[in-house]
Amino acid sequence: MAADEVRVAIKLGFSSGDITLIATAISELARNILSYARQGEILLRTVDGSNRTGILIVASDEGPGISDIRQALRDGFSTSGSLGMGLPGVRRLMDEFEITSEPMHGTTVKVKKWKQ
Ligand SMILES: Nc1ncnc2c1ncn2[C@@H]1O[C@H](COP(=O)(O)OP(=O)(O)OP(=O)(O)O)[C@@H](O)[C@H]1O
Ligand SMILES: [Mg+2]
Repeated sequence: MAADEVRVAIKLGFSSGDITLIATAISELARNILSYARQGEILLRTVDGSNRTGILIVASDEGPGISDIRQALRDGFSTSGSLGMGLPGVRRLMDEFEITSEPMHGTTVKVKKWKQ
């Protein structure tokens, strides 16, 4: 995880355990962009809820997209012979998880983690 990303998470006062989970999620989303879309971007932002703060991570690319999102979210499903634990893992680690994808146009994954 790059230094700037660590700074966002630390500034919000996340515990070191949560920072590790956030770092893992960012790393899995970045790895998917590199593996499947080659390029894309990851945006990090603080978010304010009514009585809590959190971090928003948006990973987006204009790669090949995912034709069956339900299948892609299943533990162990992989089109690259890998473990197939990235997306389902990120979903479990984060508090909110949203994925949109259009074949041939790209994929966007938005996740949030609230400070406990
Ligand atoms: N950004 C993306 N663009 C296109 N397809 C994607 C993208 N991210 C995930 N996928 C598809 O969803 C499948 C599941 O992704 P996931 O990250 O869960 O597993 P994996 O990358 O195959 O393996 P692992 O992450 O465990 O090494 C991938 O095999 C791939 O087919
Ligand atoms: Mg992956």
